[in-house]
Amino acid sequence: MFNLSAELNELTQQGLYRSCRVIESPQGVELIINGKNIINFCSNDYLGMANHPRLIEAYKAGLDKWGVGSGAAHLVCGHSSAHHALEEELAAFTGRERALLFSTGYMANLGVISALAGRGDTVFEDRLNHASLIDGALLSGAKLKRYTHADVGSLQELLINSTVNKLTVTDGVFSMDGDIAPLPELAALAKQHGAWLMVDDAHGLGVLGDQGRGTLAEFALGQNDVPILIGTFGKALGTFGAFAAGSEELIETLINKARTYIYTTAMPPALAEATRVSLKLVQAENWRRVKLNALITRFRSGAQQLGLPLAESRTPIQPLIIGDPEQTLNISNQLFNKGILIGAIRPPTVPKGSARLRITFSAAHEEKHIDYLLDALDQTVR
Ligand SMILES: Cc1ncc(COP(=O)(O)O)c(C=O)c1O
Repeated sequence: MFNLSAELNELTQQGLYRSCRVIESPQGVELIINGKNIINFCSNDYLGMANHPRLIEAYKAGLDKWGVGSGAAHLVCGHSSAHHALEEELAAFTGRERALLFSTGYMANLGVISALAGRGDTVFEDRLNHASLIDGALLSGAKLKRYTHADVGSLQELLINSTVNKLTVTDGVFSMDGDIAPLPELAALAKQHGAWLMVDDAHGLGVLGDQGRGTLAEFALGQNDVPILIGTFGKALGTFGAFAAGSEELIETLINKARTYIYTTAMPPALAEATRVSLKLVQAENWRRVKLNALITRFRSGAQQLGLPLAESRTPIQPLIIGDPEQTLNISNQLFNKGILIGAIRPPTVPKGSARLRITFSAAHEEKHIDYLLDALDQTVR
């Protein structure tokens, strides 16, 4: 018999119980929770697009034009010209031959890995890859081998000993740590060993690279270096959904084999319209990246002065590792009482002993928000 109450009690005792806070306002750097004003430092809305008036306008116009639902999966009758245009614009944006929409990043990762790899193949993954990348490999039936975080030597050892079809998979920017994968070295190693490289740039797209083209653009890595690129819309682009980009052959393979593409309803076309506008604004409004970087620098120098345990990250993800889950939860609650929202990220999302405050920044923050945060951290993280 399943004993759910015992399992839930155990989670509570270990400081690992999870629950949602109910947000009573639109997404933004200032939220209302329990009727109180709270400053938000845990969203992935890095460029402040989720509540942007131009996106709201595009979404509304999309609803008037297309109605609410897409009606069916892409391959049935759900693939509108709005979806199609977004795919073409994403291919141009990422410098790939083609792009293919998925309903979420989670589904893109499950679908792509399981469409490419199967029994007899091997998938190599960074130990700190996002859960959806790990789950994709498990679903595929291929052998999963995990290499030490960002350690090219560790991957090389595994690749040398493998003779089958090889797929190497990594986050571009690591979602819980904010550091950047050593992509040029990984791409060279993958090529040398006849392996394919897949990069999930959920947290780099919009934030890094010229015009926000992402981590690969920052390293000038093209389709030949990284044949499979995943991007999501729910973070810097401020909407919802995801895509895979790569060669004509890759996309045709995914259309025919990726089960999370084939067997699910297409995203609403109005959402594709809102995402098209976001993509244009993200490219054009470089000031958002400039401001975001200035805020990150202000935080890092302030935190250094206070002696806070900063991680090696230059992205909007700035974790403070606390270690113990209960203590992390306790600090997160104390910060909440001071009007600051930062989630306590605990195992199994991060490795045991590395529970953390995952602090994130947005171009919509102001300097006063950063200063208030530093002051509150000084009083609580000790
Ligand atoms: C690296 C990474 N990939 C994929 C996802 C999943 O994307 P989505 O929220 O669109 O399902 C996330 C987080 O949400 C992520 O951090």
